[in-house]
Amino acid sequence: MKIAFYGTKSYDRLWFEPLSKEYGYRIFFIENLLDEDTVDLAKDCDAVCVFVNDQVTKPIIDKLHEMRVKAILLRSAGYNHVDIKAAKGKLHVLRVPSYSPEAVAEFAVASLLSVNRRLHRAYVRTREFNMKLDGLIGTDMCGKTAGVIGTGRIGQAMIRILRGMGMEILAYDVYPNPDLDVKYAELPDLLAQSDVVTLHCPLTKETHHIINKKTISQMKKGVYLVNTSRGALVDSQALIEALKKNETFLGVALDVYEEEDGIFYEDCSEDIVKDDVLARLMSFPNVLITSHQGFFTKEALKAIALVTLENAKMLDEGMELVNEVL
Ligand code: NAI
Repeated sequence: MKIAFYGTKSYDRLWFEPLSKEYGYRIFFIENLLDEDTVDLAKDCDAVCVFVNDQVTKPIIDKLHEMRVKAILLRSAGYNHVDIKAAKGKLHVLRVPSYSPEAVAEFAVASLLSVNRRLHRAYVRTREFNMKLDGLIGTDMCGKTAGVIGTGRIGQAMIRILRGMGMEILAYDVYPNPDLDVKYAELPDLLAQSDVVTLHCPLTKETHHIINKKTISQMKKGVYLVNTSRGALVDSQALIEALKKNETFLGVALDVYEEEDGIFYEDCSEDIVKDDVLARLMSFPNVLITSHQGFFTKEALKAIALVTLENAKMLDEGMELVNEVL
């Protein structure tokens, strides 16, 4: 098989290069994202391999189909960046449903604790030998209530960790899991009772801007918000308005941002920032922004490479495509 691998970073090669040799597949590593300018690079390839910021739209899918590409191999669990309807009957879309839910949950807890105890500010201060504590005061998490939205693989890993910290859990999911020993609540009740709100549902039409002006107004005063799922779950403008009022949020940790494509995963430090919303979010002392790195552990990267190439193999050998997005 020949695979055009878009959005390549150095860490992708670490696992994909040796593994692809074992599988006997040829991978063409391309640094650019898949778009209308780069789609032609997949000429003569059996599949393209993409990550979360490649926007696989209908025109791209039609072009790939025209070029006889057979499949889109996603190096991710989420598939909101692919027009699945347009791909139906033309290209197989194969994903990595689970690689390390713990990696994302551990990161979500790390960013919650960092923003709570202001570690992001303390790190910078102590390097300048400013050892004062003013402005770094946090809150005990033990005994507080965490509202977990989405109780799938990552949500459940999150619940396990937060319980270990002595937190009470309230959960909300459109499909409550009867096997899970957790108290489910309706979304407004969860928002009204939680000291921490953490998002672990996929981005769909229903969850787009699930955190908006109205739902923010239903939250407790002095809440922490954590989003390691998808940027568009949060209405950034509504979040900024609430942060400016400085009543609702003690801290906000965002690993994802609704306009992250083209910015996250890139070094833009020499550029003039054009995104005023992101720049405004960065300006709040109680907001911690990271660049979609929740998944980024050695174990997760290795699992992503393995499952992606297994998906390619199933396609190549005409086996049942168990990870096909339907
Ligand atoms: P999962 O599919 O195991 O669980 C998702 C849960 O969300 C399910 O229980 C589902 O019923 C629930 N859900 C669906 N629609 C909902 C709605 N309207 N309201 C409330 N709950 C709803 O997915 P998993 O593996 O736990 O991943 C969750 C999300 O985390 C992914 O969709 C992806 O967006 C994000 N993610 C982020 C990463 C990062 O690096 N920051 C890495 C991996 C995933």
